[in-house]
Amino acid sequence: MPPATVAARIAHLRAEIERHNRAYYVLDAPTIPDAEYDRLFRELQALEAAHPELAASDSPTRRVGGAALAEFGQVIHEVPMLSLGNAFSAEEAAAFDRRCREALGRDSIDYACEPKFDGLAISLLYEDGLFVRGATRGDGFSGEDVTQNLRTVRSIPLRLTGEAIPARLEVRGEVLMFRAEFEAMNERQRARGEKEFVNPRNAAAGSLRQLDPKMTAQRPLRFFAYGVAQISAVSPAPTFHSELMERLGAWGFPLASERAVVTGAAGLATYYETLAAQRHALPYDIDGVVYKVNRLADQETLGFVSRAPRFAIAHKFPAEEALTVVEAIDVQVGRTGALTPVARLVPVFVGGVTVTNATLHNEDEVRRKDVRVGDTVIVRRAGDVIPEVVAIVAEKRPLKDMFGAEPLHPPFELPKVCPVCRSAVEKPADEAIARCTGGLFCPAQRKQALLHFASRRALDIEGLGEKLVEQLVEQHVVKTPADLYKLGVLALAHLDRMAEKSAANILAAIERSKTTTLARFIYALGIRNVGEATAKDLARYFGNLDALMQASADELQQVPDVGPVVAASIAHFFAEAHNVEVIEQLRAAGVHWPEGEPAPRAVLPLAGKTFVLTGTLPTLTRDEAKERIEALGGRVAGSVSKKTDFVVAGAEAGSKLEKAQQLGITILDEPQLMELLTT
Ligand code: IVH
Repeated sequence: MPPATVAARIAHLRAEIERHNRAYYVLDAPTIPDAEYDRLFRELQALEAAHPELAASDSPTRRVGGAALAEFGQVIHEVPMLSLGNAFSAEEAAAFDRRCREALGRDSIDYACEPKFDGLAISLLYEDGLFVRGATRGDGFSGEDVTQNLRTVRSIPLRLTGEAIPARLEVRGEVLMFRAEFEAMNERQRARGEKEFVNPRNAAAGSLRQLDPKMTAQRPLRFFAYGVAQISAVSPAPTFHSELMERLGAWGFPLASERAVVTGAAGLATYYETLAAQRHALPYDIDGVVYKVNRLADQETLGFVSRAPRFAIAHKFPAEEALTVVEAIDVQVGRTGALTPVARLVPVFVGGVTVTNATLHNEDEVRRKDVRVGDTVIVRRAGDVIPEVVAIVAEKRPLKDMFGAEPLHPPFELPKVCPVCRSAVEKPADEAIARCTGGLFCPAQRKQALLHFASRRALDIEGLGEKLVEQLVEQHVVKTPADLYKLGVLALAHLDRMAEKSAANILAAIERSKTTTLARFIYALGIRNVGEATAKDLARYFGNLDALMQASADELQQVPDVGPVVAASIAHFFAEAHNVEVIEQLRAAGVHWPEGEPAPRAVLPLAGKTFVLTGTLPTLTRDEAKERIEALGGRVAGSVSKKTDFVVAGAEAGSKLEKAQQLGITILDEPQLMELLTT
């Protein structure tokens, strides 16, 4: 190739690759397949290797990382990197609005609102549109020069695009990791037997501070811009922060799409609520929202107090992670005998509630995290999820004495026999879960089985709670669900805290539970791997209990969504004589449901289709919509996944709708659903 052609080809490839980078990392809309991207990249690498005289600091090939450093240089921040004041309640946010109004002598103020990214603050300097230096926050006045590492972050533009590019620009923003990319990275670390990271924030911090940029290049770091520290004259000069952000976007910086401009304290409150609800649907962690007076001249007027601006504030969400100490590790026995290690904790306020227990999932998890009694641990409670132990703080482990390094407590071991009934514990080689083999002999399993039988979505016996079941089992009054129907007022009334009146109420609830549906009854039996949805499928397919009880594993697999594992569990359950006996006793006691013929599955129009309902529909209640869909053979699931066929969205649909859009699932409104139900 003649030199001019090589130079042109290199320029073309660089522009193309950065365009694809931008499409993928900034606009979130990939343009070409990975393999094609790799091909362009390798061609550019080969040309640059053959023509070192054409090297350029803004070439995308530099993103794989250059030579390792001995240490980071120091960067003095020309404009200090300050922190933000915090608000922890709507009142504190309203007080911020009041202070701004008073200081500016204005009735009403517009605010630019943004997510508060839970990553690391960095500063990026551009000269004539070229990325020349990047630094960490450090102590706010001087930070570390991490330019070489930041070059590897694909969402950071190496050269600005667009128009009216300022001669000098210092952008501030946050480096972080997307949760999904963090999980995938941890899985790779695990596969290689390397150390896993505790959370996306720590992983981002560790990755950014690698002395070898080639290491940083392999970590899925992302960048979002949230402000400008310095900008040389541009025309027209921006009037609003929101306008400045738009320009950053046009120059190639990634921005959070959840930005909004709102008016007054009421606007702030609405924004906070909206983002709090969306929090877990975002691809990255946020720990609150940030409000900024939108007019730049007003920001200047308001100025700063000590180390924080007066014109901006962070409104924090309740923290989802906290430190506490493990007092004991207990082992709980579940309904199916599964042994679950549970950490008993020194009470700690996290995710908006006081947490005293956190699940450790199973033996392998405890070993992997090496959680021991006395350890200081990070507990996490996100949304409605059960609190869990994320990791231990290794430095804080109590030691036997101050000379050796021997830990005070040994590694956790699962007991070899059930802690409740002393039956053998068994753990199949291919399963993570160890189980008590005691079955209904084990009081723990019996209690859980009874609680499940009586639960709201099963036979719905109101008032039959944990305390009562515990006494009934411990005093040997009730062994199986069938025994519940033999209870009299006397047997109940002599139990603790049980007056005659409440005893009568419970008996009435037990009596009411006799009239039920086949699906509820199947679910109530607590067959392993048979949840509510499968119970409904089975009831619909077989129509009556005897047909189900007699079905072979092969026949069971004809039921939609029933695979070999579920079929085996069901067949195994009905092969046990004592299970059949309990069922007969229940029927004899008067438990009944409308029995029918097997439904002609194949002709049901929505057979095999999975729906998810979200938001408020204009006329149908959620239960009505569910019933209609199920009547035509469809299934209604609680969460959106790749297996979802339709999402029915009403007013104020939230994260489920977003997820459906991301996955490209068909979205229906109520009229469209009705059409589907009637054709
Ligand atoms: S504006 C003058 N906007 O929060 C300070 N900061 O407490 C201007 N942060 O470490 C900061 N998201 O890195 C601003 N949308 C956002 C932010 C944000 C996260 C971080 C920032 C800093 C901390 C301030």
